[in-house]
Amino acid sequence: MKILVASSEVLPYSKTGGLADMVGALAKFLARAGHQVGVVTPLYGGLREKLPGLRPLDWNLDLPFGSARVAGNIWTLEPSPGLTFYFIEQKAFFERGDLYQERGFDYPDNAERFVFFSKCVVHLARYLPWQPELVHLHDWQTALAALLVLDQKLREGWTAAPLVCLTIHNLAYQGQFPAAKYALTNLPDSYFRPEGVEFYGLLNCLKAGISYADQITTVSPRYAREITTEPLGCGLDGVLRRRQHVLLGILNGVDYDEWKTEGNPHLPFSYTIKDLSGKQTDKSALQRECGLPEAPDIPLFGTVTRLAEQKGVDLQLAALQEMLAGDMQFVLLGSGQREYERGYRRLAERYPSKCAVQIGFDTGFSHRLEAGCDFYLMPSRFEPCGLNQMYSLRYGTTPIVRLTGGLDDSVIDISEDADKADGIKFIECSVRALSKAIRKALVLYPDKPLLRHYQRNGMARDFSWETAAAAYASLYQRIRAGQ
Ligand code: ADP
Ligand code: GLC
Repeated sequence: MKILVASSEVLPYSKTGGLADMVGALAKFLARAGHQVGVVTPLYGGLREKLPGLRPLDWNLDLPFGSARVAGNIWTLEPSPGLTFYFIEQKAFFERGDLYQERGFDYPDNAERFVFFSKCVVHLARYLPWQPELVHLHDWQTALAALLVLDQKLREGWTAAPLVCLTIHNLAYQGQFPAAKYALTNLPDSYFRPEGVEFYGLLNCLKAGISYADQITTVSPRYAREITTEPLGCGLDGVLRRRQHVLLGILNGVDYDEWKTEGNPHLPFSYTIKDLSGKQTDKSALQRECGLPEAPDIPLFGTVTRLAEQKGVDLQLAALQEMLAGDMQFVLLGSGQREYERGYRRLAERYPSKCAVQIGFDTGFSHRLEAGCDFYLMPSRFEPCGLNQMYSLRYGTTPIVRLTGGLDDSVIDISEDADKADGIKFIECSVRALSKAIRKALVLYPDKPLLRHYQRNGMARDFSWETAAAAYASLYQRIRAGQ
């Protein structure tokens, strides 16, 4: 099929979180399976210099934008056969220090930036010579495109308009803006109502996608169910229930070309499911790198995360204050809300020989942490899919996760299946429940045969993108067939 994927971030060119991993891998594996794939994404600052292979398209964008017009350029890159990237250049909008925010605050013109970007997506969908049959939108930054396609179909006679699939990676981010921003869309007022894009008087970009896409997906089956309920529906559970017949959860995959324990340029030592000795040396190397005592027999816990409330990092901080008094070590790599950054720095000061904290974003270190730790902590309040627990499984690092969303769908607790157990799950969202789960890990750690059983089960799990991309491809076919 001919598919145009649209996302505000995509690996290997831009990333703030799992959205980039997911879109980069989905596009790559769809193309590998023989589909024709285009990916539209912003040309952020620095990319021109980093990508000498970029070619300008002979196509100047000049789109209506409220009462004005905004111009832009398109640059293309074809990293592999069947896969073309279309980078939208709009310097004032996209050449910034970061993708969405600065010093913890969203850019004040995010409505302008992503309404414009959504318009570019639709413009490409409409005028690209290869005529995409389906547009796959990701998250609020592109969701408005679903309505723009529909409107152009109805009002401008776009008869060959593509089908639209929207994937929700995180319902907590909806792109809500003052009603006045709706004028930027140049859409008729009739869509600005509760059944359309309005949400309590505001413009809600994600709601536009949910209301008007032909198909909605989210990144795990459990999260697809959870978002139709009030506790995790973020105010949109009613709309999602109304559209439940087109809502499907597909678990993300792992790009094993990147996340591998053998021949991985980020890892000092390789290891395999048959020979885990390299994991032990990766652990020593990590302890050295972090300035922790090189202690092979002390269980080492780790986390790589955005420091946001979603991730339960406050619960984890409180649990670790107490648990680090015992015989264990902990390493954190993360960045985000200032109060959490300060909290974890203070934790490291309190336990200098047991806790190491690196604030920042560092892909290489994230691999070394995943490989060198014995246990991976992920106490999320909610988790649409979550990737690090799946990376941990492949790295033989036993995940400790809260039973929610994709964490529940990807980790197997001993209480579910003793033979296949590969991680520790806890239910309650509390410091006590997390501490108890950490204690279970401390009991498991010295029981080497059982620990190996967990590790080998985890490493043998297969979340390959071939499977996930095939699930998307067959969904696209079903939408096309109108089933
Ligand atoms: P989310 O997208 O909600 O942040 P995911 O688990 O889906 O959570 O994906 C997070 C991705 O971002 C993973 O690839 C993880 O390794 C990466 N990541 C998060 N924080 C950092 C960091 N500080 N440095 C490097 N990689 C990070
Ligand atoms: C979002 C979610 C995360 C998911 C990722 C990729 O950032 O928070 O759970 O894994 O998207 O789909």
